[in-house]
Amino acid sequence: MIENNIIFYLNEEKVKIRVKPSETVLNILHKLGYLGAKESCNEGDCGSCTIAINNLGKIGEYKAITSCIIPATKMHKRHVITIEGLGTPVDTHPIQQIIFDNHATQCGFCTPGIIMSLFSKLTEKKIVTSESLKKSLEGNLCRCTGYQHIIEASEEILENVNNATLNSDNILPSFCKDIQRKINEIPDKIEQIENPIDDVINIQSYTLLYSIDELKEKIQKLNSKNYKIISGASDLFVEKNIQKKYYSHYFDVSRIPEMLGIKLIGETIEIGASEPIEKIIGSDIIKTHISSLNKAIFWMSSRQIRNVATLAGNIGNASPIGDASSALVGLDASLLLISPKAERIVKLENYFQGYKSTILAEDEFIAKIIIPIQKENRFYNFIKTSKRKNMDISTVNSFCSMKVDSKGKIIDIRLVYGGVSVFPQLAKNAIAEIKNHNIYNLDYDRIEVLLKKDFMPISDVRASNEYRNLLIRNHLIKHIATYKMEFNNEK
Ligand SMILES: Cc1cc2nc3c(=O)[nH]c(=O)nc-3n(C[C@H](O)[C@H](O)[C@H](O)COP(=O)(O)OP(=O)(O)OC[C@H]3O[C@@H](n4cnc5c(N)ncnc54)[C@H](O)[C@@H]3O)c2cc1C
Ligand code: FES
Ligand code: FES
Repeated sequence: MIENNIIFYLNEEKVKIRVKPSETVLNILHKLGYLGAKESCNEGDCGSCTIAINNLGKIGEYKAITSCIIPATKMHKRHVITIEGLGTPVDTHPIQQIIFDNHATQCGFCTPGIIMSLFSKLTEKKIVTSESLKKSLEGNLCRCTGYQHIIEASEEILENVNNATLNSDNILPSFCKDIQRKINEIPDKIEQIENPIDDVINIQSYTLLYSIDELKEKIQKLNSKNYKIISGASDLFVEKNIQKKYYSHYFDVSRIPEMLGIKLIGETIEIGASEPIEKIIGSDIIKTHISSLNKAIFWMSSRQIRNVATLAGNIGNASPIGDASSALVGLDASLLLISPKAERIVKLENYFQGYKSTILAEDEFIAKIIIPIQKENRFYNFIKTSKRKNMDISTVNSFCSMKVDSKGKIIDIRLVYGGVSVFPQLAKNAIAEIKNHNIYNLDYDRIEVLLKKDFMPISDVRASNEYRNLLIRNHLIKHIATYKMEFNNEK
């Protein structure tokens, strides 16, 4: 008999439950009778399944996640708060009451997710602004478009925060007070979660790993090559839910300490492969030394997704349009790749080989992303064109890094495009033309011819190839215009 148990706290209740490798957090919430988190898109896009989980190492802080795409196993030793834990119809939480008073709920399907996103935002020990409250809702759709009332409710929430009617005593439910001690009592580790006979989805195992050595041993011992490293699961569990595509074994690296953290080492920054993107955005090291990376990842997906998704996952799926991938090629990043037998460092620009194909060997994984810090007096810029600002995959993205001398001569340039080729890559022919030319005297028609040599975009649901070609040219013009504005030297 396979045990497959995980232990976690659900609101105030300790839960020990048998899970399957294929199950999501939403699946087990519904099994346990907690129906407040709703299933709708099942791909992380709409936010109706949003719940809050404790932010590891930050007592009293919670982060919003979309429970429909998070593997249930990940909840071991976590504190999960659902809408049921915040309040009841007769004893509402202040956020629930404000949403109700502002008529910010119509059909109500999206409402629990909206409340959980606002709740998570308020638990952060940061100053809340009108903008940051709105941004916390970027991953929540209201299908019946009650947005105006939702915005009005969030403005009232802000007023209540500012006049301290809403404060740490009434934002956090009372059961949060003693939760850290209780969580500490749960054993750190669980055994591999295996496939029980009754699961129709044939995922053989899901394993939470706790060190790089343990991961290497697992990879070496495994006979099957049908396995995947899994970090945030924001790609892999969407594939499982929607395309019904899955692998025999998943090795979850999100808790491996050596693959976490952001360190400034000399002239480079090392980001652990499992570090969630939202933490990277909040990092002072990144804000000070590679602010242009934040420009690329700030608008990536939604807060719920960024709370779990990683740079390694964005690189790992080798999508032609990964926002982080384009920026990281532009920043001349390298990857530390580890296998059971060896380690090597490779430049990201040499990592991608073809459509969804990379140089990663079957037994290798990404352990770190290594990025040179930005240089003073060098220009860095990221542009994303998408149908809407929030929660949309890029139609075309690009990154430009440039050194221009005092006379306007472009001494060096890295210009990268995503969404116009099989993987994000440097515009080599255009770069050769632009280099050593004066920034105030560029021949855009000539450069366009070379950009067309570099990239032959296809037409798809997002855009026609003509439109993409136009965007390629216009992105360059915008990078140059931004340089002129930033360096305040328009001539
Ligand atoms: C609603 C939604 C919106 C999105 N919006 C955007 C967007 O705007 N821009 C964008 O670029 N992307 C977007 N994405 C895609 C996705 O969120 C990102 O690609 C994310 O960075 C994936 O990270 P993850 O850790 O969740 O990956 P996972 O799902 O865990 O893994 C993805 C791939 O990377 C591999 N991988 C993960 N970690 C490692 C490792 N350490 N070593 C080797 N391989 C590894 C996995 O094996 C897998 O092939 C969106 C996704 C969703 C669901
Ligand atoms: S159901 Fe839409 S994000 Fe989960
Ligand atoms: S209230 Fe109906 S979908 Fe939001």
